[in-house]
Amino acid sequence: MTLRNLASIAVMLAAGALGAVAANGQSSAPLPPGPGLDLINERCAFCHTTAQVLSVRKTPEDWAATVQLMIDRGAELDPEEQKVMIEYLAANFADKPGQALARH
Ligand code: HEC
Repeated sequence: MTLRNLASIAVMLAAGALGAVAANGQSSAPLPPGPGLDLINERCAFCHTTAQVLSVRKTPEDWAATVQLMIDRGAELDPEEQKVMIEYLAANFADKPGQALARH
């Protein structure tokens, strides 16, 4: 993962999040949209809810370890999807704001 990739993903997600809030003011808890969120809804939400996954904050390393642990438990993700999901989680649900960008 490069800083440039991660930064552009973060910018895209931020832009998307603003659009989602404007377009979907009904949603009680708008989450940053993106392919990572779609994957979490599709592959992670049959054992626990997406909200449970996204209620925790982790360092990028811990997100990578958690996603790998969930794959060991039965989540189906190919390596590319795994990367997309970890980048999404690290960019939006880091335990300290900006940490994901600062480290990579
Ligand atoms: C086969 C069932 C299963 C699938 C699929 C699954 N999980 Fe989990 N997950 C669990 C169980 C069981 C727990 C609670 C036990 C624990 O905390 O270790 C859990 C707990 C968690 C937690 C809270 C505990 C922690 O480490 O902070 C997170 C976050 C999480 N899962 C993320 C994910 C993500 C992301 C995916 C999709 C890649 C996923 N899970 C898919 C079974 C699953």
